[in-house]
Amino acid sequence: MTDDLNLDKGGAPRQTTEQGYETLTTQQGVAVSDDQNHLKAGERGPMLMEDFHFREKMFHFDHERIPERVVHARGYGAHGYFELTDDCSDVSMAHILTNVGEKTPAFVRFSTVAGNKGSPDLARDVRGFAVKLYTQEGNWDIVGNNIPVFFIQDAIKFPDLIHSAKQEPDRGFPQAQTAHDNFWDFVSLSPESMNMIMWIMSDRTIPRSFRFMEGFGVHTFKLVNSEGKPTFVKFHWKPKQGLQSVVWNEALKLNGADPDFHRRDLWDSIQSGDYPEWELGLQLFDEEFAEKFDFDVLDATKIIPEELVPIRKVGRLVLDRVVDNFFAETEQVAFCTQNIVPGVDFTNDPLLQGRNFSYLDTQLKRLGSPNFTHIPVNAPKCPFRNFQQDGHMAMHNPKGRANYEPNSWGTEDGGPREDPKRGFKSVPEEIEGQKLRVRPERFADHYSQARQFYISQAEIEQKHIGDALTFELSKVETPAIRERMVSHLRNIDEDLAKTVANGLGIDLPKAAPPARKPITDLPAS
Ligand code: HEM
Repeated sequence: MTDDLNLDKGGAPRQTTEQGYETLTTQQGVAVSDDQNHLKAGERGPMLMEDFHFREKMFHFDHERIPERVVHARGYGAHGYFELTDDCSDVSMAHILTNVGEKTPAFVRFSTVAGNKGSPDLARDVRGFAVKLYTQEGNWDIVGNNIPVFFIQDAIKFPDLIHSAKQEPDRGFPQAQTAHDNFWDFVSLSPESMNMIMWIMSDRTIPRSFRFMEGFGVHTFKLVNSEGKPTFVKFHWKPKQGLQSVVWNEALKLNGADPDFHRRDLWDSIQSGDYPEWELGLQLFDEEFAEKFDFDVLDATKIIPEELVPIRKVGRLVLDRVVDNFFAETEQVAFCTQNIVPGVDFTNDPLLQGRNFSYLDTQLKRLGSPNFTHIPVNAPKCPFRNFQQDGHMAMHNPKGRANYEPNSWGTEDGGPREDPKRGFKSVPEEIEGQKLRVRPERFADHYSQARQFYISQAEIEQKHIGDALTFELSKVETPAIRERMVSHLRNIDEDLAKTVANGLGIDLPKAAPPARKPITDLPAS
């Protein structure tokens, strides 16, 4: 009987054509006899509504597109693993940071920030460096960039920053470029961006490939050990391949010749067995040490100087497998700064706190259902159970009778229970103060680190920064915006300001007043 029905061991029909191909079926598993012609009334007649195969095929095609990411739309991902090389139990109780030699599966997505999904790879832009670690204690995402600082200090400015950086709303261009008035208008009115501006005008923003970039968690996070002691941490990914960039002229040619240059490079290197590798570095310091800095370690526009807090290398990240399907994995992956595990915790960085809200919110819109965590690339690889249920495309509804707790059903039927001992606990922290909208005084120095970054660059790198600023600002049509930018440069480096002013053919403006707040009192033209 079984043979007559052509069933395999699992009870499913073995659908195979006479030539040995798998049979093409509908989503319902019905074998398709003709995929070239729709069902008509007569040879030249109208189409019949009952053609369920045509309607299902076209319906599915019509719904293939999902919204692209609101930022970081252009990206490329790969699988690999993280291996701990140094036991970190002195600072963290996380399993992944305390078991030397253990390999944890990882998925990494590199991206540009401002460009749309089809934009070229070699744009002058920050690169995303997002890492999902499928640990035994749940997923831990380090959603970082290839630049260690950021444009803004408070998440409430993010929509403005991104609006200014993307296409201007009336004309719909330029795409993936910093070369336009809106972007420079916003940053020139936001002195807190100046450190980031030095970094993004440097060679860092035109990497030779994803393999030759550093990665940074940017924010100060906390690690927590088994005694509950917190330690501040900054995360660094150091490429074993070294750090390499292209120059602007090369980038322009590459974008024209092969807009997929970076994704092709990653695909080819992994496929040929040349697996890219990064070391995980930690900068560790305590609250007392943090208080000694002139700036606040909760300010994401600042780095912690490596001379003061050396990097401790604790593990390696290797990418050794390309995706099976770009859409299923790279497009549907959902990283979130909120995804942390016991042994890791947040700080009150006002940018990080806002990000913790934004990612989940946008991913519901982008992926369409609160069950996007069930998509294989997003699901944990450790067991996971809870009483969340239903919604579109629910794959992991509660099993059995219990879908609530407390319940009086036993271990067989009662479902999962909390674990007060090993479950995630936030580090207890004294919080006091008035409810207000204010920036701390120690967030106010916007120029010192910008200057330190600029003078730390080799002569040729400084020239590239001057050239980049001159080129980008030459695309700005509003004279007042150009002048305002050069007036900031005078607070960073006088020679740089002169070079750019000369390049733009303008007089050196007065230095910008030291500003704690956005400069809203300067006229735009
Ligand atoms: C992607 C928000 C700052 C790194 C995204 C997305 C949003 C977002 C909405 C799209 C997510 C998705 O559709 O899956 C924000 C907000 C920020 C902020 C509100 C500040 C308040 C940053 C910073 C970094 C960063 C400082 C780096 C440290 C990334 C990366 C991605 C991303 C790497 C792409 C993730 C991927 O490859 O899927 N961000 N972001 N973001 N963000 Fe942010």
